[in-house]
Amino acid sequence: MSYEDKRAYLQNKYPAISDLAAKAKSRMPNVSWAYLETGTGEEHQLHRNTEAFKSISLTPRFCKGQLSPSIKATLCGKTYDAPFGIAPIGLTGLMWPQAEVLLAEAAQRYNIPVTLSTVATETPETVGPIAKDLGWFQLYTPREPELCKTIMDRAWQSGYRTLVVTVDIPAPSRRERSKRAGMTMPPKITPNLIWQGITHPTWTAKTLKRGLPTLRTVREYATFRSLISVGAFVDGQMGGNLSWDYCKRIRDDWKGDVIIKGILHPLDAEECIKLGVDAIGVSNHGGRQFDGAASAIELLPAIVRQVNNRCPIIFDSGIRTGLDILKAIHLGADFVLLGRAFIYGVAALGALGPDHVCEVMAGDLKNNMTQMGVSTLEEIRSLES
Ligand SMILES: Cc1cc2nc3c(=O)[nH]c(=O)nc-3n(C[C@H](O)[C@H](O)[C@H](O)COP(=O)(O)O)c2cc1C
Repeated sequence: MSYEDKRAYLQNKYPAISDLAAKAKSRMPNVSWAYLETGTGEEHQLHRNTEAFKSISLTPRFCKGQLSPSIKATLCGKTYDAPFGIAPIGLTGLMWPQAEVLLAEAAQRYNIPVTLSTVATETPETVGPIAKDLGWFQLYTPREPELCKTIMDRAWQSGYRTLVVTVDIPAPSRRERSKRAGMTMPPKITPNLIWQGITHPTWTAKTLKRGLPTLRTVREYATFRSLISVGAFVDGQMGGNLSWDYCKRIRDDWKGDVIIKGILHPLDAEECIKLGVDAIGVSNHGGRQFDGAASAIELLPAIVRQVNNRCPIIFDSGIRTGLDILKAIHLGADFVLLGRAFIYGVAALGALGPDHVCEVMAGDLKNNMTQMGVSTLEEIRSLES
């Protein structure tokens, strides 16, 4: 089958992200699937994230002649081929071995940003040279300022110039669904896990080849490098230690762009502006942290009003279609990130998966722009609701 035939085949077999999710689920052990899918608490926010998009409606205009929508987007002085990028995902290799590398390679082909998490299973030294100038590094801030500086230096030396500082983890999240599925950090070898390995042979073969997933960026700082001590190290070092002063020090120390990710309140957006960040990430961590807040998309307009064009806004949480991207841009986002959608792609189709996610998203976005009678992202912003 030629590459073009393969693409056409995939478009028909997996026309939507939900098709990729179903395939991904069948290829991943239960514990990996539960880790990817889980929200927190009763998962109200997780569901609201996607449901709220469905309740936003737009009214199309017709007879605009031949339209050829352009979806190129400029953010912090750099132009990307689409207004979306790949969100940071921790423990990525648990969901699909070497997913970080496959995602970074796809980002090159599609000219979109790709974010590496501090708690990913591959290091900035491995992924940075593949991601090149499309790589963003996501920072969970260690308690010890020296360690923070070391990790930032490693990211910089690996070629990263955009730092995404995640601020929405004041405490570890409970993520009950993941616990019910037997997820522990580190993973425990139980009869169930062995059975899961036997019944998901592709995942298992690739995992055995790469080695069991571990937090390769931070494990060297744990006193002992066993999985147990790495897990304990992350719990003890990261999360629950951030203040605006700490963010300011990071802003001052990082010579490249700084994005603060996880903002839900207009006054916190104002703090970001005071710090002089380069972009604000409106996100509720994909519904994984606090079950009591509204969906991220419902909170976006108030932040857009507060920011009032003083700083670009990057939105994530709940995006599953190109139409969702259109709606987020309409409500004031300059750019969006996709978390689970890209992992569904990579777990469903391996190296072809992230490319297919890009094509589904870009195709759906362009189609819906044409349905709405607009051909630029700017026009989406001024559409009537
Ligand atoms: C499995 C998983 C792991 C994640 N790990 C991180 C992480 O390490 N750092 C981070 O800033 N956000 C992390 N996030 C949040 C994502 O970056 C992003 O905010 C979220 O996935 C967006 O929601 P969506 O999955 O509905 O697109 C994670 C999300 C998921 C689903």
